[in-house]
Amino acid sequence: MAGQKTLVGKIHPDVLAFTAGKDVILDGALVEADCIGSAAHVRMLSKLKLEKPLFSETECDAVIGELVAIMRRARAGRFPIRPDDQDVHLAVERALSSKLGDAGKRVHTARSRNDQVALDLRLYAKEQLFGMIEEAAGLARLLLTLGQRHARVPMVGRTHLQPAMPSSVGVWASAHAESLLDDVEVLLGAYAQNDRSPLGSAAGYGVPLAIDRALTSRLLGFERPIHNVMYASMARGKCESVVLAAASQVMLSLSRLAEDMILFMMPEFGYFRLSPEYCTGSSIMPQKQNPDVFELVRARTAKVLACTNTIAGILKGLPGGYQRDLQETKEPFLEGVGVTRDALRAVALVMGHVEVDAPALKRGFNPGVFATDRALELVASGVPFRDAYNEVKAGLDQLGDVDPVVAIAAKVHEGAPAGLDFSGLKKRASDGIRFVRTRRKRYYSALSKLLGVPYPELGK
Ligand code: ARG
Repeated sequence: MAGQKTLVGKIHPDVLAFTAGKDVILDGALVEADCIGSAAHVRMLSKLKLEKPLFSETECDAVIGELVAIMRRARAGRFPIRPDDQDVHLAVERALSSKLGDAGKRVHTARSRNDQVALDLRLYAKEQLFGMIEEAAGLARLLLTLGQRHARVPMVGRTHLQPAMPSSVGVWASAHAESLLDDVEVLLGAYAQNDRSPLGSAAGYGVPLAIDRALTSRLLGFERPIHNVMYASMARGKCESVVLAAASQVMLSLSRLAEDMILFMMPEFGYFRLSPEYCTGSSIMPQKQNPDVFELVRARTAKVLACTNTIAGILKGLPGGYQRDLQETKEPFLEGVGVTRDALRAVALVMGHVEVDAPALKRGFNPGVFATDRALELVASGVPFRDAYNEVKAGLDQLGDVDPVVAIAAKVHEGAPAGLDFSGLKKRASDGIRFVRTRRKRYYSALSKLLGVPYPELGK
């Protein structure tokens, strides 16, 4: 048979290449998580009460030391995953076995690549969720600062893009901020679901050894294990889909902000300006300053939505238990999360340099914008609303000049131009950021203890 030797038997090279697919490359992002997961697993195995222990204390330390060495090599770009490894899991096992002999060959006891990869992705997702929560809350805070600084700058409120009612830059900026704050809540929900360990479910049906799943969960800083072993394998893809659903909400918020920026940066509006270094130019038209960051955010939102949908599409028809189809959820997951984080950072960078043109914003007002306010003035003096509406409508050409600053100062109820609770919204943003800081600290100290070196630095 023209089979290629692998750790798990001889496989036809073409079948090997086809089934490994992009894992050989994509799993490069999971080396660190895979090593961390193995460290916890081996530590747990070393505590198993067996006739003959699987790992002595010294062997366990040696395996963990070697795992840390692999992490360091991976960071330096010196841990390749070979085609005959198929994926990161077998690449790490091969490296451990060739260095440590039998101790390396025992690492995969009571474990399958199914729970291993599910674990790796959760550790990866945890870092990414920390980043997304922090960045989304940080962008919300930046928008709130922008809004607060220009809280009294009038801006036409639009519906159907047509001038509608007097509003303010404060309302506009904090609307986009509040949207992101709601997305942070969705991200926190995804964080909670992700914060459960699948390790020890093995192929999806457990093992006939008294392994301690609560211990590995604790060593890895998870809230708790996923209880049911079969569900632990089925939650692969589902968890990714929940995280991407949250990322999709972030992208939808960014996309709508981006669309507003593209529009309001047009010279015909001129409400907002960016200095040239935050735009891009044209190769033929010397005068061009294009809002490319915002356009790409708009387009990449479609990508994240597609990634989310790809994962849901793969899951939809699957029976219970592990199916190789699940491997294909990896690429859209990594891509969707990566695109979202890049977008969050780019938008924060650019929005941090927006200039607000108050006179241009004022020019956006026309007398019609005050028509509804006028009708409500009549209501206050006793006219039924529909009569007031008709009266104003009949005399639209007689609407006088109103100072938009005065108009927006009159809207004092909750959430209106003069009733915005910037500090309440900012507190929501800070709560999100604080959540990440405390959880990350706790997580890193669990990993430092597990690895015996400071994490994430890895010492040396
Ligand atoms: N690369 C595989 C994946 O991502 C690892 C799990 C392989 N499991 C198996 N039963 N073939 O799904």
